[in-house]
Order: sequence, then structure tokens, then C-alpha cells
Amino acid sequence: MSPTDFSLSLRDVTPASFAERQVRLLLLDLTAIHPFISGNKWFKLKYNLAAYQAAGKSYPLLSFGGAWSNHIHALAYAGYQAGIPTIGVIRGERPAQVSAMLQDAESWGMQLEFVSRAEYRQKDSAAFIDSLRARLGEFEYLPEGGSNALAVKGCTEIAGSLSALDDVDFLCCACGTGATLAGLISAAPVPTQVLGVPALKGADFLYDDIRGLLKQAGYADNGRWRLILDAHEGGYGKISPRLADCIERFKIHSGVQLEPLYTGKLLLALENMLAGGEFTAGSRVVMVHTGGLQGLRGMEERLAEQLKRFRDMEKQRQETE
Ligand SMILES: Cc1ncc(COP(=O)(O)O)c(C=O)c1O
Repeated sequence: MSPTDFSLSLRDVTPASFAERQVRLLLLDLTAIHPFISGNKWFKLKYNLAAYQAAGKSYPLLSFGGAWSNHIHALAYAGYQAGIPTIGVIRGERPAQVSAMLQDAESWGMQLEFVSRAEYRQKDSAAFIDSLRARLGEFEYLPEGGSNALAVKGCTEIAGSLSALDDVDFLCCACGTGATLAGLISAAPVPTQVLGVPALKGADFLYDDIRGLLKQAGYADNGRWRLILDAHEGGYGKISPRLADCIERFKIHSGVQLEPLYTGKLLLALENMLAGGEFTAGSRVVMVHTGGLQGLRGMEERLAEQLKRFRDMEKQRQETE
């Protein structure tokens, strides 16, 4: 079943630290729309799947991702449900046992093609795509993360669920490729400012990528957005003790589970901004929960270790004070 029947609404999850500064934190939770095609994934896939079906194509939809890619997982399930064959081109050699995410993908009929990291880096080059065609036969190409103009169009519907009446000062989401943010930028009600928090270190290239995606999708760049480039905690996939603590505190306070690759870093960035006085009293800040919880299975041990480190460090700090 595709996610067809859902409505999005804001939930107040303001932590005490925000309330003390009279800043409201509201959650736009995209995880509840479907158990597998959750978060931003459905919005990125829906028009791509519709275009594929409308064109009456029958060859596979091929896309790219790592062993824990939420996009590959969602694509495999969406393809399985819609009767569309799928191929996942996966970064790195095939291990003896594939990740739980890829096991799911294979069980939903996705063909997995493992390529070396060097090859994977060429995923956007025409020559590499041609070599994949020579190897695998004809396919419909979907870039990494499913991020193209149709994905941006789908993501406008995330921001479209907010109305000017929601009175949002900041609409914030985590970024990988920036396609989700591009959708938010083009549909956020005036005068909402859109903030993106890249999961990658050194991601200022995303300014150009996001402008490029907006252009490809035919949306104007209204300039009411910026990237917060310093909440990556050391880079993609890195879990710091304070990131683990931030996720745990939020879960205890709100009952909402975040994951460390994207949404945890988003909350950490908002906490940093609050501490730096960047949200004035009376601000309403909306955080978009873009999902990724299926991939949490691969990170629980590391998260628990880092949380323990955080608590040990706190204990030591208190003892020496
Ligand atoms: C949970 C989650 N949030 C956010 C993102 C970022 O999406 P985008 O690539 O559209 O920036 C991803 C991308 O994979 C993701 O898995």
C-alpha cells in the first residue's frame, strides 16, 4: 500500500530550554505516513513513480545508495508494491552478509549491484551510466537519493501542508542532497525562513546544488533560506556523544525517536542556534522529521556507546567542578 491517506499537522514538542527563551519548537512528523516509505522518501518518489507508470515503461528503475540507504529501502518497497522492477546500485563490495536494510530490499525483489567505492563516485557521469546499461540492460535512471526535479516537486507538498495561519518563523530540515530542502524553499508560506542542516561535513557546495535543483524543477529561488554548516559532528555517519545525548533527551521529553545521521543533527543544530541567541523570543520553529528510522537498526549499539560516553564525561565534569 502506498501512503495515500494521511494528513500532516504540527505537534508542539517545545523542550524546557526552548520554553525558557520563549521559543516554540513544533514537529512536522513525516514518519507516520507509512511504515516503510516513511519520511521524505514518499514525497521524493511519488511523482517519479507516477511519471514512470504514465510513460508505460516496463524496464527496471535503477538508483544508488549505501548499505543503509533509506532511499534504496523505500524504492525497493515502492517498486514491490507497484509491480515495478528495481535495481539498487550499492556503494562498496558485497559483504558476506548484507545489511538488514538490503536484506529487506532483496526480499522485496530489488536486484542489488555492488560497485567499488571508486566506481560509485562516478554515479552521475554519463560514461558510468552507459557502462551500467551495457552490463544490466535498459533501465530508468533515478539519481542517488531519488533527488531530481520530480522529487523537489513532491517535497513542495511537505511545506504545502502548512498554512500562513500556522505562523511559522523557521521551517527546518536535514539535508543530504538538498532536494527536500529545495521543495520546502519553494512552498514555504511567506515570510517563513527555511533552514537546512547538512549531514555532511564541508557541504557548502549544497548552495549551488539546491539552486540547481530549484531551477531544474522550475521554481524561483526566493532567497529566504540558508544552510547551517556546522552541525555535522565530524561528518556523515559520525555519532558524537553530545549527538547521542540530544537524541535521548528528545525521546524522553517528547516520545519521538530521531536517528543520528540526519534528524538528530537537525535538532542539535537548532539547540546550538537557540544557545547562540539566534531565535528571538516569540519565534515558532518547525522541525521536519524526515524519517530514516528503518536504518536505526544498524546504529543502536553505537548510539548506546556514545550515550554512555556522554554520561561518563558529564559525571567526570561534575566531579571536578
Ligand atoms: C532521514 C533523512 N532525512 C533527510 C534526508 C535528506 O534528504 P535530501 O537528500 O533530499 O536532502 C535523507 C536523505 O537520505 C534522509 O534519509
